[in-house]
Amino acid sequence: MNTENINRKKVEIDLDYIMPDTSFIYPLYSSEGEKLLNEREVLTQGKIKTIREKYGNKVYYAPTEKDIGVIPSYVYDKALNQTKSVLNDVIITNKFTRDSYKKSEQVIDEILSDLNSRELTAINLLKNMKSFDEYLYFHSINVGLLSALMVKKRRTYKGNEIKSVVLGAYLSDLGKIKLDKSILYKPDRLNEDEQLEMKLHPQEGYNIIKSLEGIDPIVLQTILFHHERFDDEGYYSLPYETLPTSPKIVAICDMYDALTTPKPYRQAYSPSEALKLIVNSVDKQFDRELVSDFINLMGALLNNSQAFYRKGDFCILNTGEICLVSEVNARDMMKPRMMVFAKFEESGQKTSLRFYQHPIEVDLTKDMNRKLSTIIMHQKLIDAIRNKLKEKRMLVDYLYMTIPDWH
Ligand SMILES: [Fe+2]
Repeated sequence: MNTENINRKKVEIDLDYIMPDTSFIYPLYSSEGEKLLNEREVLTQGKIKTIREKYGNKVYYAPTEKDIGVIPSYVYDKALNQTKSVLNDVIITNKFTRDSYKKSEQVIDEILSDLNSRELTAINLLKNMKSFDEYLYFHSINVGLLSALMVKKRRTYKGNEIKSVVLGAYLSDLGKIKLDKSILYKPDRLNEDEQLEMKLHPQEGYNIIKSLEGIDPIVLQTILFHHERFDDEGYYSLPYETLPTSPKIVAICDMYDALTTPKPYRQAYSPSEALKLIVNSVDKQFDRELVSDFINLMGALLNNSQAFYRKGDFCILNTGEICLVSEVNARDMMKPRMMVFAKFEESGQKTSLRFYQHPIEVDLTKDMNRKLSTIIMHQKLIDAIRNKLKEKRMLVDYLYMTIPDWH
């Protein structure tokens, strides 16, 4: 048998959850590693039947860290064409017409009905754009999709509200079409003046759409407030706790898509890096509960219930303590089991690290005083902590732990 050894974690997909005519951005394998489908090959009804008869209901793929992508291509491509048409109409006419609204609504309806029609075990969402000047189209769809997943997970919105939140998410960057092209597609970081221009886009988007008759206030609020922050330091420095939830959801989805998209001046962050950065923005940029929902949703989707961080990763808690993840909690990824072994202490200008005599075992699901603040990503700090632990012969079992590739 011609099999391939995939030296990465394999992710299981149940064939029942795959819509016919879906294409995948990576090959599919049997449990033995036999290639069943090439990348981007369409999985037709006939092929599903053949695979099922020969190999049963489970197939596997092996995403690299940077890969994230299963969605029926026809759904995404249709959304993309429609989005181009909506945004280009607004650019040409300078108006957001009833027709633009209808077209936007169609995109959202299709995305929502596609998500409703499938179980989300192995769904991955976002597509890579071909060129940077297509960013706005892809970003609009991706933020709409991610927000749709969040709204579904939270179950706090009902009926038409769901559509309004997702529509607001989809149109959140509409105001960017007012930006000078030299800013919107600048292949470099924005300078201070350009940043000020950029900060007008929520207001511009709101202005474009506000006079449309019968528009749900949720759509308007979502557009206008999607760059406000937990620490009240957002675009308009509005008090975060007084704001509705929908723009707060969009802010997280927006950051995730922005981080995982390559920019001319930096590579794309991997999904797990992006999720770590989002966790590290809790209580600064984002609300903890919403991040927790996002992390639990995306962490599981991206890695089939394995967390985006691993046993042995170092974290900082809200108490200033340093700890090591001793057990990932797949049910609530913000609350793993930890071994707490040191604490940052400040004396005058100096911050030092005081190691405990013995590590303390903490279960964040039970300990109400400790919360996860930061997953340490800085390699030099990680190496320094590891060396110190080795020197102290503390938690050494975790330091030499290897992560199984194929489980
Ligand atoms: Fe925005």
